[in-house]
Amino acid sequence: MTTLLEFKNVSKQYGHDTKALSDVSFAVKEGEFVSIIGPSGAGKSTLLRCINRMIDASSGEIIFDGANVMDFRKKELKKLRTRIGMIFQHYNLVNRLSVIENVLHGRLGYKSTLAGVLGLYTEEEKQQAYSILRILGLEDHIYKRCDQLSGGQKQRVGIARALVQNPKMLLCDEPIASLDPNASRIIMEHLKNISSSMGITVIINLHQVDVALKYSDRIIGVNKGRVVYDGTPDGVKTNELQSIYGTDFGKTVDEQGGQHAG
Ligand SMILES: Nc1ncnc2c1ncn2[C@@H]1O[C@H](COP(=O)(O)OP(=O)(O)OP(=O)(O)O)[C@@H](O)[C@H]1O
Ligand SMILES: [Mg+2]
Repeated sequence: MTTLLEFKNVSKQYGHDTKALSDVSFAVKEGEFVSIIGPSGAGKSTLLRCINRMIDASSGEIIFDGANVMDFRKKELKKLRTRIGMIFQHYNLVNRLSVIENVLHGRLGYKSTLAGVLGLYTEEEKQQAYSILRILGLEDHIYKRCDQLSGGQKQRVGIARALVQNPKMLLCDEPIASLDPNASRIIMEHLKNISSSMGITVIINLHQVDVALKYSDRIIGVNKGRVVYDGTPDGVKTNELQSIYGTDFGKTVDEQGGQHAG
């Protein structure tokens, strides 16, 4: 399989004293399903957002499909962002618009500003949107306003919006953090299916280790801006979890020497 994405010694500095990423290197193959895990503040969101340049890395190279995205100017950036779909914890939908309108927004990157403003979509684009909504089990909600949907349904709209872009890769920043276990499972199964049946590469930030281990081809563990694990889910044992989450991982507050409240 060919490499789709490669980080080469990528660092990101915010201001003077926060180094969010330190010398991060890894490669992702086409079609791979990769989870990024690590404690809060480890740099997971920063890492994900450097890929589509929502955040600019400070140094290193980020090679996507053969080109260094850090060199991209306006026009190349617009094209890059059509090829990389993004899915957010809080969905980022326009609540007063319908499901289908939100999904068609995924096509805006391909349009002139005027066509976008006028909401001019081709019949083909609408058919594609309908068919993706059917795959995601949203066929009964196509004309509903998004504020009438459950969290799990909203996230499926977010996935549909990303898919109509015809992306090569999906970046998902804690897509299930606001969902209950059942809705989470449905979202993860859709993402897994998208990766295996459509060949779309998925990179996903997760706080739930069990979920990451269950669905991923590969796990990247990050601690304080550094990659401390890069391998299969099978290789993630207690020692690896301790290097990712810290040596207190798995201990109770008492065992950590914490104090009782009251
Ligand atoms: N815009 C910013 N300006 C300054 N510092 C920032 C900014 N964004 C993030 N940071 C800092 O960079 C580090 C990494 O943050 P990041 O959001 O990437 O972590 P994360 O792993 O996604 O955390 P979480 O699991 O809580 O979402 C943290 O120390 C954070 O405070
Ligand atoms: Mg984050």
